Amino acid sequence: MRDVAAASGFTGGALLAARGLVFEADGRRLIDRVDIDIRAGCRLVIMGANGAGKSLLLRLLHGLVAPCAGTVQWKGRRLDRAARNHQAMVFQRSVMLRRSVVANLEFALAVRRLDRAERARRSARALANARLGDLARRPARVLSAGEQQRLAVARALACAPEMLLLDEPTANLDPDSTLAIENLVGEACRQGVTVVTVTHDPRQARRLGDEIAFMHRGDIAEIGAASSVLDRPRSPAARAWLEGRLAVDQAPCETPMGKEKTDAKE
Ligand SMILES: Nc1ncnc2c1ncn2[C@@H]1O[C@H](COP(=O)(O)OP(=O)(O)OP(=O)(O)O)[C@@H](O)[C@H]1O
Ligand SMILES: [Mg+2]
Repeated sequence: MRDVAAASGFTGGALLAARGLVFEADGRRLIDRVDIDIRAGCRLVIMGANGAGKSLLLRLLHGLVAPCAGTVQWKGRRLDRAARNHQAMVFQRSVMLRRSVVANLEFALAVRRLDRAERARRSARALANARLGDLARRPARVLSAGEQQRLAVARALACAPEMLLLDEPTANLDPDSTLAIENLVGEACRQGVTVVTVTHDPRQARRLGDEIAFMHRGDIAEIGAASSVLDRPRSPAARAWLEGRLAVDQAPCETPMGKEKTDAKE
């Protein structure tokens, strides 16, 4: 892992730390006492089967969903709205405003209260970096899926986040569009942005991850160096999934709320 902690201006412990995170809904425990430390400059990939809780965990880490129990800390303090402005998230299904490409960028910057000149400067740079300059005046909603994803990543990066959370940023995209997005993310990493990516693609996980957390039924079954988790998974869940044996039996834990967790990692 590269030591770019200093680049983010934070040299303490974990940039983001979650302890005992629990999220329950409709009598089901969907996130089951998750602990995780994300260090500044780390490239963390989260993998796991459909319904394992990856998107929900990202939302909890971004402060969009309040946990039923547990804490999320940003630089050792409670993750509040101000801290959340230092993160940016790209959702699994990005929502574009009914405006032009450039207006979508500018709106995200206006929400962060940047002045007009700074908004224009950052939008122009984001359009150039994402190679969307020719499409700047097009309505964002008529862009192709790949172009919209590129815009979603560009919009997030224009906010100059310290941490970028990406939920399956290249699902359903062709190799060229995937590469374009990975290049944007790679450049952000080189600038010191801490990047958390959810993906189902082991090859992408290898390209974008220093560390991999494998989720199973709302818990982290295994976390470690990317090569170690991908090549020598220790948890039965990661092993089964990577070998293609874990198919549809992925309903989140249906134990009654409050019931003691059994050994979820085995
Ligand atoms: N806010 C919520 N309220 C109630 N249930 C939720 C909420 N968010 C997610 N869930 C449920 O939690 C479970 C995990 O959902 P999540 O979207 O995190 O899965 P995932 O691992 O991202 O799956 P996929 O790979 O399909 O995207 C699902 O059963 C989902 O319906
Ligand atoms: Mg998801």
